[in-house]
Amino acid sequence: MMKMVAHILVVVLFSITSSLVYAYDPSPLQDICVADLNSKVLVNGFICKAVEEVTANDFFLSGFDKPSNTMNKVGFNVTNALVNQIPGLNTLGVSLVRLDFAPYGENPPHTHPRATEILTVLEGKLYVGFVLSNQNNNTLISKVLNKGDVFVFPIGLIHFQANIGHTPAVAIAALSSQNPGVITIANSVFGSKPPISDDILAKAFQVDKKVIDYLQAQFWVNA
Ligand SMILES: *[C@@H]1O[C@H](CO)[C@@H](O)[C@H](O)[C@H]1NC(C)=O
Ligand SMILES: *[C@@H]1O[C@H](CO)[C@@H](O)[C@H](O)[C@H]1NC(C)=O
Repeated sequence: MMKMVAHILVVVLFSITSSLVYAYDPSPLQDICVADLNSKVLVNGFICKAVEEVTANDFFLSGFDKPSNTMNKVGFNVTNALVNQIPGLNTLGVSLVRLDFAPYGENPPHTHPRATEILTVLEGKLYVGFVLSNQNNNTLISKVLNKGDVFVFPIGLIHFQANIGHTPAVAIAALSSQNPGVITIANSVFGSKPPISDDILAKAFQVDKKVIDYLQAQFWVNA
């Protein structure tokens, strides 16, 4: 009996401590903390507006039925419903995005430093995947998704989505942060300002410096 009680205590303690360790956005300490997006003072997130000044529109956004413009080099665009679009998301640890893909367009390899992503396909056919870390041999976990399918991209891992159909594709994704952040790998590595030295990148990518210069040039057009 004592052993069982001790066991339950350990489980409870573990769940409490692990919820502290694994909750990426801090838990709210009040009902609402609608972001004052105009304040120059920042905390870890935004400071809260006075509750008396809060309205329903602070928790509202329209337009997720509208496709965004995908006429760009990768044939992809994203519509955000993050804390900057919905101030009421401040401190709540979730957000939403709409992803539009031109035929054969792609959301290039990228990572969200602060969020896990769960995505569902509304229209079209997507080839998606994420790559495990070095420790797990950079294993690629990938799948073809059809309308209605749901897929998860774990926090921090490099992932991509590509439209493999000849019609536009649409997906909606939820993220476990009010401000997930995006690091697009190619833009970060080859398009940093100032550029990372081509000596560094030539060794890292095991190619000639000319190849690096060529890649860097792609991200410096109109920069
Ligand atoms: C994404 O779509 C919006 C709305 O259609 C547009 O204003 C913006 O320029 C587009 N961005 C890119 C990178 O194509
Ligand atoms: C990674 O590779 C090592 C060496 O080949 C192997 O022992 C290990 O099982 C692999 N791990 C995974 C997760 O594939």
